[in-house]
Amino acid sequence: MKCIVLFASGSGSNVENIVEYFTGHPEISITCVLSNKRDAYVLDRCNKLGVPAFYFNKAGFTDSPLVLQLLKCIEPDLIVLAGFLLKIPSDLVKAFPNRIINIHPALLPKYGGKGMYGKHVHTAVKAQGESESGITIHYVNEQYDEGAIIRQFKVQISEEDTVDQIMTKVQSLEHTHFPGVIEDLLLGR
Ligand code: GAR
Repeated sequence: MKCIVLFASGSGSNVENIVEYFTGHPEISITCVLSNKRDAYVLDRCNKLGVPAFYFNKAGFTDSPLVLQLLKCIEPDLIVLAGFLLKIPSDLVKAFPNRIINIHPALLPKYGGKGMYGKHVHTAVKAQGESESGITIHYVNEQYDEGAIIRQFKVQISEEDTVDQIMTKVQSLEHTHFPGVIEDLLLGR
């Protein structure tokens, strides 16, 4: 069985979607969800879904190697950042080469980098008057949103679309495509 560890900081709609997709999967399972936000809604979702979930603080993540050691014990085949907003420490990136992926709610390299997350991204896309946006699934390296791109998916947006409507369109792309891309990577497809 291949196993996934998910990292999330927020609402966790992607986590819920990924967990549901892999429930009962013959070759892939979700080991646990890790969050840096004690009050993140993703932790409530995990309680409802019956998925093991852990909160960690800065002392365990950036100031000590404890999260890294935990991951080394778990030996995940893939670490998936699903709405995780902290930079991954370089020792963690080095310990899991090409085994950490992230989803970004825009067509990188546009609208990436520090501060570009969640609604900030869609606000910037709207301000630029873009006619399309989308999602990027990419490997994680030591820079925000700069690792090699695995897959991108696009959606048309119109001038009338509000920031919230753009966000809804992009989230729908995430929910449609992210689990399948994870599955393809793990099964070498
Ligand atoms: C998602 O749209 C994801 O692409 C984005 O955070 C949202 C989390 O939603 N990630 C980033 O912006 C990373 N830079 P969710 O908590 O409902 O899954």
